Amino acid sequence: MKKIETIENRWDILYRDYPEVYDKFASVKKYPKWIHILPKMFDFKRKVIADIGSGSGLSTFDLAKYAKKVIGIEPENAMRNLAIKNAKKKKINNVEFKKGLAAKIPLKKDSVDFVIGATLVGMDTPASIKRFLKEATRIVKKDGYIITIDIAPKWYGGELAPVIFGKKRQSKGFDIEHIIDKTLSKLGFKHKDYYQIQNYGSVAKAVRTYGFIFGKKTIDYIKKHKKTKIKWKLRIHYKKIK
Ligand SMILES: C[S@@+](CC[C@H](N)C(=O)[O-])C[C@H]1O[C@@H](n2cnc3c(N)ncnc32)[C@H](O)[C@@H]1O
Repeated sequence: MKKIETIENRWDILYRDYPEVYDKFASVKKYPKWIHILPKMFDFKRKVIADIGSGSGLSTFDLAKYAKKVIGIEPENAMRNLAIKNAKKKKINNVEFKKGLAAKIPLKKDSVDFVIGATLVGMDTPASIKRFLKEATRIVKKDGYIITIDIAPKWYGGELAPVIFGKKRQSKGFDIEHIIDKTLSKLGFKHKDYYQIQNYGSVAKAVRTYGFIFGKKTIDYIKKHKKTKIKWKLRIHYKKIK
């Protein structure tokens, strides 16, 4: 397939046609990562985790270092196949990947200790978030947790948010972070924020990954300002299920 310069925020195209670009974008050096924070907040030892929207497996592999078993649920075949390939290559044996959606998780009632959605997409309306939570609540054991990690409100695209959508921030992209935050807060979720630096290493790599995803304006900005690092604010939402 001929590679275009940018997908201009079309994540559906990214997941379908460019899983390697997503994998490169998501696996650049980040500090701190949510996986440096979550094990200090929750005890994953001997626990089973369902990782919803597991993508190319990066979140699943991180969680697998701390848990007994992690089951990745991912609808896109290209992403799931890459995850299966990477698990074999990395010799990670306590992971499993299944095809499924957040609204229809192919796991039994009360079968996991934690349900985690690490930048799970497709939760962009209160109704879709509630459908996911209904399923997550069904599969999680009593006293287990539902945890989501998302971009904090107003931080879509990280510090270059105003470059992506203009200073007025009227884009749909920003609304999604607000909808997730408002809906989860109303449903009794608590949250913890943290800042993360993503280090792309070089201007060329920032253009090929971050710029490819977030659009032409960010590509021009990265080149002009020789950006190799991008700062993000992220939000961890969590709720204990009684
Ligand atoms: C931003 S990626 C995150 C991947 C992984 N959790 C990580 O941390 O690298 C979001 C993933 O959610 C998947 N996805 C999209 N819609 C979904 C849905 N309705 N249910 C579950 N996963 C979905 C996408 O295909 C994509 O692989």
